[in-house]
Amino acid sequence: MKKTLSDKNILLAVTGGIAAYKAAELVRAFKKRGANVKVVMTAAAEGFIPAKTLAILSKEDVLTDESQAATAEVAHVQLARWADALVVAPATANTLAKMANGIADNVLLETILASAAPVKVMAPAMNDQMWANPATARNVNTLISDGFSLVEPDTGFLAEGYEAKGRLAELNTIVSQVEEELNERSAEDEILSHLKGQKVVITAGGTREPIDPVRFLTNRSSGKMGYALAEAARLAGADVTLVASVKRDCNAGIKVRIAESAEAMLSAVQEAMVDADVFISAAAVSDYRLKEPFTDKVKKQGDDDGLTLDLVQNPDILKTVGMAKKPGQIVVGFAAETKDLLENATAKLQKKNADMIVGNDVTKAGAGFDKDTNVVTMVRDGLAPIEAGPASKLAIAKEILKQVADIQEQR
Ligand SMILES: Cc1cc2nc3c(=O)[nH]c(=O)nc-3n(C[C@H](O)[C@H](O)[C@H](O)COP(=O)(O)O)c2cc1C
Repeated sequence: MKKTLSDKNILLAVTGGIAAYKAAELVRAFKKRGANVKVVMTAAAEGFIPAKTLAILSKEDVLTDESQAATAEVAHVQLARWADALVVAPATANTLAKMANGIADNVLLETILASAAPVKVMAPAMNDQMWANPATARNVNTLISDGFSLVEPDTGFLAEGYEAKGRLAELNTIVSQVEEELNERSAEDEILSHLKGQKVVITAGGTREPIDPVRFLTNRSSGKMGYALAEAARLAGADVTLVASVKRDCNAGIKVRIAESAEAMLSAVQEAMVDADVFISAAAVSDYRLKEPFTDKVKKQGDDDGLTLDLVQNPDILKTVGMAKKPGQIVVGFAAETKDLLENATAKLQKKNADMIVGNDVTKAGAGFDKDTNVVTMVRDGLAPIEAGPASKLAIAKEILKQVADIQEQR
């Protein structure tokens, strides 16, 4: 057996489904490939397989509610930090629901909530009706947007005595997926490490162009893609400045500058670009603003009278930064399109003097405004378009940054 998981730390979280007995084989499969395996399990899982079996096979103590209660150590946090990959298998409908809601009322859930493992895989197993229930589907989708990957249950003979979808996936499929993701992650870390210490400037959100003191013109952009890019760049070790029109929760290591209008955003970006290495324009900048915003709140006119707003063009932030690009600086723009994505993105590449345009067909399922996932086509000069997604916006952000690192490498 090839030691494809040599020195990798795998935390197996076992929950209380009938397939829990297969956890013993799963531990063996990971060990055979050279991994270090530790197990955490729920009380319900202990009803299906003794902790002792998993302790003997993994050659490690198994963390249970009972063992946690008897130790002076904060074992769940230590275990959460130790893992390169967290594998929840089998994952019950109950535990998936709790995970999706951040509930931590047993040691397995505490460990999962405390885990920042770069690879997180869930392999559900349950009765077919439980799997088909919309609540389960909703929870699984939430977990996917939170960065978990799914090993879908198989269709086969269930414990209930009939053939349906819900059986735990083949153990080989689970092991291969973990292996693949860990390998991808190492390759990704290697590429993204190029961004360490670099100054990256990112814009996010739909700009807000004032009409009067209480109203503004804006668009449907939520800022989620820009914030995800900032987080991905931070994780890669970059020094990140995020110029955003909207405030969202983000890591304190990201320098957030709030700039609501296109003009305010441009000046904040220009200031940050003085010593920057990379600019990524993910904000949806309004093309127009009011020529003169009203100083007082606009009141309704006569009964049938309309109101005409006089608009002027906003500065083009991407083009301004692209044209002023210093040697070595990388400029990336977004193109949110509803048709002719490739043509428009390619044209934008030239027009804005950008190094890459990330085309975003906002009409596609899993893509676009205010979603937690995205589907993109990355267009670079002289290369075939690169597709990514559907995937979480953080995963898409990493794909974009990999291309940025590649552009730098090619120079
Ligand atoms: C015999 C038996 C088999 C079960 N099998 C499953 C199963 O395969 N999948 C599942 O989601 N729940 C199954 N359940 C229900 C779970 O055991 C129950 O929801 C429990 O609260 C799960 O706890 P845990 O998620 O903390 O491990 C089963 C229950 C029993 C009694």
